[in-house]
Amino acid sequence: MAELMHLFLLSLLFFYSLPGANAVYNIQDYGAKPDGTTDSARSIIRAWAAACGSAQPATIHVPTGNFLVSQASFSGPCKSAAIKFWIEGTIVAPAGYGAIGSSGKWISFSKVDGVSISGGSLDGRGAALWSCKLAGRSCPTGASSLTFTNSKNVTIDGLTSINAELFHIVILRCHGVTVNGVNIRAPGNSPNTDGIHVQMSTGVTIAQANIKTGDDCISVGPGTAHLWIERVFCGPGHGISIGSLGKGQGGLSEEGVENVTVKTTTFFGTQNGVRIKTWGTGRPGNVSRVVFENAVMKNVQNPIIIDQNYCPTKKGCPNKSSGIKVSEVKYVGIHGTSATQVAVNFDCSPSNPCSGISLQDIKLSYQNQRAHSYCKHAYGIASGSVVPPSCL
Ligand SMILES: *[C@@H]1O[C@H](CO)[C@@H](O)[C@H](O)[C@H]1NC(C)=O
Ligand SMILES: *[C@@H]1O[C@H](CO)[C@@H](O)[C@H](O)[C@H]1NC(C)=O
Ligand SMILES: *[C@@H]1O[C@H](CO)[C@@H](O)[C@H](O)[C@H]1NC(C)=O
Ligand SMILES: *[C@@H]1O[C@H](CO)[C@@H](O)[C@H](O)[C@H]1NC(C)=O
Repeated sequence: MAELMHLFLLSLLFFYSLPGANAVYNIQDYGAKPDGTTDSARSIIRAWAAACGSAQPATIHVPTGNFLVSQASFSGPCKSAAIKFWIEGTIVAPAGYGAIGSSGKWISFSKVDGVSISGGSLDGRGAALWSCKLAGRSCPTGASSLTFTNSKNVTIDGLTSINAELFHIVILRCHGVTVNGVNIRAPGNSPNTDGIHVQMSTGVTIAQANIKTGDDCISVGPGTAHLWIERVFCGPGHGISIGSLGKGQGGLSEEGVENVTVKTTTFFGTQNGVRIKTWGTGRPGNVSRVVFENAVMKNVQNPIIIDQNYCPTKKGCPNKSSGIKVSEVKYVGIHGTSATQVAVNFDCSPSNPCSGISLQDIKLSYQNQRAHSYCKHAYGIASGSVVPPSCL
């Protein structure tokens, strides 16, 4: 019987490896164990090597069960032009912290083209590291759960990421990335657990994301252009943020952020709604052509905010005028409630005032009272009904 089964499997494998067919590499065939305790890192890396070297489209299958993976980096370029990670089970990180080492990455891809991840869960088991950080002890920085660097044409679809030590998903120096239907969860007090971080990347689309975490739901770093964000639920979390930018010292300019659309979002009990934040260093750069459209705010501390004196610890703040110029930022159709009286806050740089800011159809209240707007070095126009009244 077992032999018959084996034959059957072999013929199946043969079928799958016919030229043009999609070859399937099941990580259990490479020794991975769904017991949550055996380190399956070597198995998953061997499955990757086989898929990457395949001349055909290839699928790496992570079946149901918990697969412990100490750390895995997958690098290209690959022979296969389309590699799919089909995850049914959960990939779990080692318990405790420090086990992942100092690379800052747990599961990572670099120099790949045409990789897609579909379904499944990543469990970063970040709790021990957060406790260390929250206790103010000296702890490692931690590792982001899933990182793509220097890659093209990437799709992440229906993935769940829970309890990352550091960021959940990082997209760095990539071109053409779609993140669709992801579910991200970590406690509201877990430090530095940004949901999705995009930096030095172009053509990234994030749609239909449900993000509950301890830091920014989505953060957008320098060098990002043509970013589209749509249908995102955020909360708890620190909102959707462009920045922080301009942290480094010196006169070196930083690659700007341009052409960003953030559309149809809901913020629930978050620290911020839609935010642009830059440090008060003189470091030059630009943020331009940003649209925040159709957002619902529910009890959000800073629903609309540009903070050009960003300094979260309030210690050793640079206290200079920000060198980042913010221009052409549109806020359209932003409704709901603010948890503080200042619902619209534009604190811009004295040397690089915000320009071309536009407010249209805004309706934000504060505990059934009037909310306020605050403007410093901010210029632009308001149109339609704008409540609280614009101070631009
Ligand atoms: C992107 O990758 C997919 C496979 O994931 C492939 O089918 C598609 O042709 C690629 N598109 C481009 C423009 O390379
Ligand atoms: C802005 O980005 C979007 C994708 O988010 C893209 O479709 C559009 O062409 C870009 N606009 C310009 C002027 O580059
Ligand atoms: C910012 O944009 C302006 C206008 O496009 C440009 O002249 C300037 O060089 C840019 N600055 C930086 C630091 O990129
Ligand atoms: C920046 O300003 C704050 C408050 O005004 C002050 O406490 C801090 O010492 C200043 N930091 C520096 C580096 O000057």
